[in-house]
Amino acid sequence: MVKVYGNWPSANLGRAASRQARNNQHERSLEGDYVVTKHPSGYDLLRNPRLNKGTAFTETERRAWGLEGLLPPAVTTLELQVARRHAEIANLDSDLQKYLVLSDLQARNETLYYSVLMSDPATYMPLVYTPTVGEACQKFGHIFREPRGMYLPISARGRLKELLSNWPERDVRFIVVTDGERILGLGDLGVGGMGIPIGKLSLYTACAGVPPQYCLPIVLDVGTNNQALLDDPLYQGLRQQRVRGEDYMAFVEEFVAAVQQLYPTCCIQWEDFANLNAVPILARYSDKICTFNDDIQGTAGVALAGIFAALRLTGGKLAEQRFLFLGAGSAATGIAELISLSMAGEGMDLAAARRRNALFDINGLVVTSRSDLAAFQTPFAQDRAPVATFVEAVKELRPTAIIGVSTVPKLFTHEVIQAMATINQRPIIFPYSNPTSRSECTAEEAYRWSEGRAVFASGSPFPPVEIAGRRFVPGQGNNVYIFPAMGMAVFATQATRVTEDMFIVAAQAVAEQVTEQDLAMGLIYPPQSHILDASLHVAERIATCIFDKGLARVPRPDDVGALVRGRVYRPLYPA
Ligand code: NAI
Repeated sequence: MVKVYGNWPSANLGRAASRQARNNQHERSLEGDYVVTKHPSGYDLLRNPRLNKGTAFTETERRAWGLEGLLPPAVTTLELQVARRHAEIANLDSDLQKYLVLSDLQARNETLYYSVLMSDPATYMPLVYTPTVGEACQKFGHIFREPRGMYLPISARGRLKELLSNWPERDVRFIVVTDGERILGLGDLGVGGMGIPIGKLSLYTACAGVPPQYCLPIVLDVGTNNQALLDDPLYQGLRQQRVRGEDYMAFVEEFVAAVQQLYPTCCIQWEDFANLNAVPILARYSDKICTFNDDIQGTAGVALAGIFAALRLTGGKLAEQRFLFLGAGSAATGIAELISLSMAGEGMDLAAARRRNALFDINGLVVTSRSDLAAFQTPFAQDRAPVATFVEAVKELRPTAIIGVSTVPKLFTHEVIQAMATINQRPIIFPYSNPTSRSECTAEEAYRWSEGRAVFASGSPFPPVEIAGRRFVPGQGNNVYIFPAMGMAVFATQATRVTEDMFIVAAQAVAEQVTEQDLAMGLIYPPQSHILDASLHVAERIATCIFDKGLARVPRPDDVGALVRGRVYRPLYPA
């Protein structure tokens, strides 16, 4: 068997070597180079998305690899191919069509797909992920073209390792997995939720350079309670109600064990599970394996980043702040806990820190006398009399910041914002509920009702606002500032765990990239157009934390930044 190491086998091989090479197969080595072991035919090359260059195969390569006649004669460059895709996509009418063109491209030519995404992330992120991916998940069975990732049905219990062994890559480092129960704000979409792990992993690569060959999207199919899907002949999952309780947890346990056995350095990221499973799964595995939940921990990280940047405008230390959350679900308690841990890191007692994070939900202020509280809410319960309205809670608790994670629009009323502006010179106002239609207030309302004094960021994007001749640019607390960088740091260091400390460090690293110029416009997150640079900075800081805590499985290098940058995937054809 011929083994040729290097980027690609030379296209100038002699005839005999070339014939020999044609019988070889390409594989990608750990270093990202191509290792030629057994070569497919030219026709096969065009159908292998990792090796395909399409019309960019040179004349020499076409001759050497049996591609002549299989392509139109004109040879194009990668740049020209990217320009062709830009023009094609820009001319399409709907975002779903754009999503499908990009999906087809990913299935055909991976290098070109990531080249397109990375050339303009601010334009393409919303097309391969939220909001467009939501519609794609809803219509999954109707737009299905070809499979990507792995589908693990609960009917295969006892055989998950066998099923996972069918995945062609032997070295998987990152799995994003969902059970499809709480897809974005769209509810139970069953196996249609697969669009989320696929889209999210594209962002790990496009926004932080995690090499795609190490990434695996997975859906755990335990059924669906969505009757419309069960009645749809094109639905592709198991036709049964969701499995709950012990059987469900045993299935998850078998999945985790199988991943550990087959891919011992793999990180599992849980995505879009319903609260009733998300919280216990994270609690069960966070101390045992390398794992995290982006809905809980990534959200908390990005909110904390916004707060760190906001404090540069308002002045004062984190431990001096008082937070009041509208909502007491997983987002609120996740953010409140990370803020509390960060306050504790500044020397405060953890219980006292949690008391500085008050929650207000559908039944009023979360106070110790309430009997309807879940275990994850009680650490934040205030020892005071019940308060029935949010504006009353603002007036009594005098928070420096309010954070909306209620899923209910318009609850940050004129009266609420005015009260915040009376209490604080620079009130911090974060309506984080998604999508835009659920936002607790708009950017314009926050700026107008506070006479331009609000420090504002939202979950969904808002356009710039002009008030009395001043221009404000609202920031978006998008998890994309955190999770791809977390993935890159874990990948580069082969971390054994993902800890809360790592999210605090990530938040600081995001906030420190906000420039004075950004702050002057009210912008408290770095611009998304330079997301790769921003992520690599964050990844370096997280990786340093991983080494400091002794959680890395690779030796500590002198230059951690160089380690991270050296592992970055670049979407270029091998020469
Ligand atoms: P959840 O359903 O777990 O929690 C919602 C909470 O809001 C519950 O505590 C509920 O009692 C409370 N609530 C509902 N109606 C209310 C009312 N009228 N008055 C007061 N409280 C009320 O939801 P989860 O997962 O915590 O998400 C909440 C929101 O946060 C969603 O809109 C989600 O899109 C958003 N979010 C934003 C992120 C970001 O921007 N980076 C990331 C994660 C979530």
